[in-house]
Order: sequence, then structure tokens, then C-alpha cells
Amino acid sequence: MKMPSSSATDLEKKGMRHFISMKDFSKQEMDDMMELMSMLKEARKDNAIPQLFKGKSVAMIFEAGSTRTRVSFETAATMLGGHALFLSPKDIHLGAKESIDDTARVLSRMCDVIMARTNEPETVDALAKMSTVPVINGLDTRFHPTQMLADFYTIKEHLTPGKKLTDLTLAFMGDATDVCRSLLLTCCKYGMNFKQIGPVKYQMEQEWLDLADTLCAESGATYEITEDVSKVSECDVIYGDSFYWTTQMDEKEERLAAFMPNYVITEELMSKAKPGAMLLHCLPANDKEEVTRGALEGEYSVAFDEAENRLTAQMALLVYFTRKFVKEPTEETRVRHQERIEGFLNQL
Ligand code: CP
Repeated sequence: MKMPSSSATDLEKKGMRHFISMKDFSKQEMDDMMELMSMLKEARKDNAIPQLFKGKSVAMIFEAGSTRTRVSFETAATMLGGHALFLSPKDIHLGAKESIDDTARVLSRMCDVIMARTNEPETVDALAKMSTVPVINGLDTRFHPTQMLADFYTIKEHLTPGKKLTDLTLAFMGDATDVCRSLLLTCCKYGMNFKQIGPVKYQMEQEWLDLADTLCAESGATYEITEDVSKVSECDVIYGDSFYWTTQMDEKEERLAAFMPNYVITEELMSKAKPGAMLLHCLPANDKEEVTRGALEGEYSVAFDEAENRLTAQMALLVYFTRKFVKEPTEETRVRHQERIEGFLNQL
């Protein structure tokens, strides 16, 4: 017979959602998240961030290295009155001495959010399947949704007056990375036009183009996959990412030969984009490879605003995904527990 649970946590969280890919969220929901970002960014400017994550914890599993994602989540949790735990594979038993399922169940009973950067998409999916708290994908080999929120917000912040996100065309320069795929699907879902500009060998897989077709049919967006660099002349946003990931070091020379110099974001390439075009880069940047330092430092570059907006995005995400589960005790409840515990301690 199954024993009844004595858990102090609410294991059946009605309406709980995970954040695995931005494609799972509607345009309205993305707009709501960005509105929340604006409010939190304003509050940060006034050093008056509401303590909406007070007493809460986010467990941060990092199977791979990170600067922006790690620092932004940890800082966001602290700024909102909560706490973040950094958990690398050498710190916890994940998938080695303990199954991913059991890890998800245990973390769910102690923390309020699980954020995971995993080497295999199956790991974050398994965490989400068993977790009773929201799971946020901090990058897997498919998607980078927290990056998307920061990116779309940054583009919106720098829009030419009178323009909307849906008026724009974004060009991703490079191969079909997690960021490229996420941009394709998020643009198509949101209604923004997208191009991947890169050599044929490194272009987007058909599986994701099929999904993009479905999303475009609903939103009215368009996409194009091309090796023709001159297409930047049709683009309002030029986006850069490394030509290889840390797991592709054995392909580094082959990849650099395929991408350089044609697909490098230079000041000259930026001058060929649409007037007023902006440059984004998810960072870290290799400024002798996919982007030049001159382009990265150009007046059109918003790459470091974009990096800062990772923090704004993580604050919004922690609040957005836990908002339904905030249970503020009444003063009577708080006092009752305090008096009972203090009474017990005093008679020891
Ligand atoms: N863009 C990004 O995810 O950066 P980190 O790898 O430093 O987290």
C-alpha cells in the first residue's frame, strides 16, 4: 500500500508549467513576460525590486559551463529575496549515483524552481517529467529559451520609433545551433521574419523547418534558409553566435574554414544591412572568428545590453513561473508558529 505523503510542499501544483522552449508559449504570454521584465528593470533602476521570490530557492544544475546564465539566475534570485544553489555534476548524483527522476523528485521537495543546463535534451525533459516545481531550460542542444526572452526584449528596447517586432527581419549568421533553432521557432511563433545565413552543410534540419512552417501559417511570419550573405540587406537585426560549441572542438578547423571569412559579422557586413540595423550576439564572442571587435563595439551593437537583459529576463521568469504558488501566511499563522516553536525551545 502506498503511504500517504507527509510532504510540506504542494505536490499537485495546478497550472504549473515548465519553460523548455519559447515555442510552447503564445505571443501574448511572451508579451506578458516582456512587460514583467520592463517593470522589474524599472524597479531595479530605483533599487526597489519587490521581494517576489522571498524565502524561495532555485536549484541550478549546470552540466556545462556558463557565465551569463549562471550569474543572472543567481543574482536574480537574490535580488528578489530568494536563493540560488549552484549544482554541477560533481556536486550532486545526477544520473550517476541517482536517477534523474529521483533527483527531480527530491529537488522539487526542497526548491521552488529547477533550472538546468544539460548536455542531453533528454535530461531536461526527464527532470520536467518528474518535477513538481517549474523546470526552466538553461540551454540544451535544442533550445535556449531564457536567451530568447532577453533577445526579444533587447530588440524591442532598441526599436526604431513606430516599428513593431513583427515588422522586423532577423538574420542569424552561422550554423543551426540551439540559439539559431530557438530564434527560428520563436520568430515564427511571434510573427517576426527570420533568415539563417550560412553554408548549406550547416543549415537548419528539416524537422525544425516543418515545425516552423506550422508556426508561420498561424502567425504570418516568414523564414528563409540561405547561403547568400547579400541577404543581410533585407535584415533589421544581425545575430551572431560561435561557429562551434565546446563539444565540437574536433570540428573547429573544418567549421572555421566553412564559415570564414564569408559569414563573419564585420563592420562592412553591418553597413550592408538595412539602415538602423542592430547587432546582437548571445556571447561569449570569439572576436577573431564569427564577429570582429570593431562590429561588436559598433554603435549599432546591443550585445552587452542583451547580456544585461539576461538578468532582467531571469527575474521575470522566476516570478512568472512561481506566481501562482506564492502562499503568503497571515500574520496570525506566522505568530502562531513562532510562539509554538519558541515556547518549545524555551522549555528545553
Ligand atoms: N549566452 C549564454 O548562454 O551565455 P553563458 O554560456 O555564459 O551562460
